[in-house]
Amino acid sequence: MKSRQTFIIGNWKMNKTLSETRSFITELGCLIHPRSQVGLAVPFTALAAASEAAAQTSLMIGAQNVSFYDNGPYTGEISCQMLKDAGAAFSLAGHSERRHLFHENDSLVNKKIEKMLEYNIKPVYCIGETLEEYQSGRTETVLQRQIIQGLKGFSPQQVEFIVIAYEPVWAIGTGKAATPDIVQKNHAFCRRVLAEEWGKDTADQVIIQYGGSVTPANAEELLKQPDVDGLLVGGASLALETFTKIVLANSY
Ligand code: PGA
Repeated sequence: MKSRQTFIIGNWKMNKTLSETRSFITELGCLIHPRSQVGLAVPFTALAAASEAAAQTSLMIGAQNVSFYDNGPYTGEISCQMLKDAGAAFSLAGHSERRHLFHENDSLVNKKIEKMLEYNIKPVYCIGETLEEYQSGRTETVLQRQIIQGLKGFSPQQVEFIVIAYEPVWAIGTGKAATPDIVQKNHAFCRRVLAEEWGKDTADQVIIQYGGSVTPANAEELLKQPDVDGLLVGGASLALETFTKIVLANSY
């Protein structure tokens, strides 16, 4: 048994209307184990409705992104205060789609995480190498840089509160999940980096999720790895049946 509690999050990305959100969450809430830690990162527009639908369940509702500004003239941005107000308990930070399509870098993501910590919103910090970095053997260098730069300036207590999601960019939405061996090796590496920077006790507490083409067929094997403490599920979180199977793949 792992001492860290498994945490599985579905990332809906830019999908689902309000009525789809409500019915999905109502049904999912009845199917999951009350002791399970399961979250859904929903679009901003669905946050309040999702939080309301999840109120009587153990489901955690979160956002996919947030501004590092408090408030003011930032057209199109959403603040941490607004997330809290809409019931978000966590937010993704630095997802590879935000890094690559919207030019977010480690220092910008660091500012977002800092703001989330200020507002007691649990950051789910996404890291991972591109295909080119993977093929040229630079995975560890990239992961180390992302962890050190993205979590710069935070105390061990703050780092313990943060979830890390290792998502190799080449595995996201491609149907080519990393093998459990590769995932375990890279998670253990991330934990070593955390131990070097913030101490072993802190590193042992940090939840490290894997994401990238997770399905009901590979979830159980991935979750069996000693350093895999959860999953971040994109495409397979959109259908109730597949997401429920993934959540139930964890043994409690
Ligand atoms: P995927 O996405 O499961 O569709 O590969 C994962 C993610 O982007 O978080």
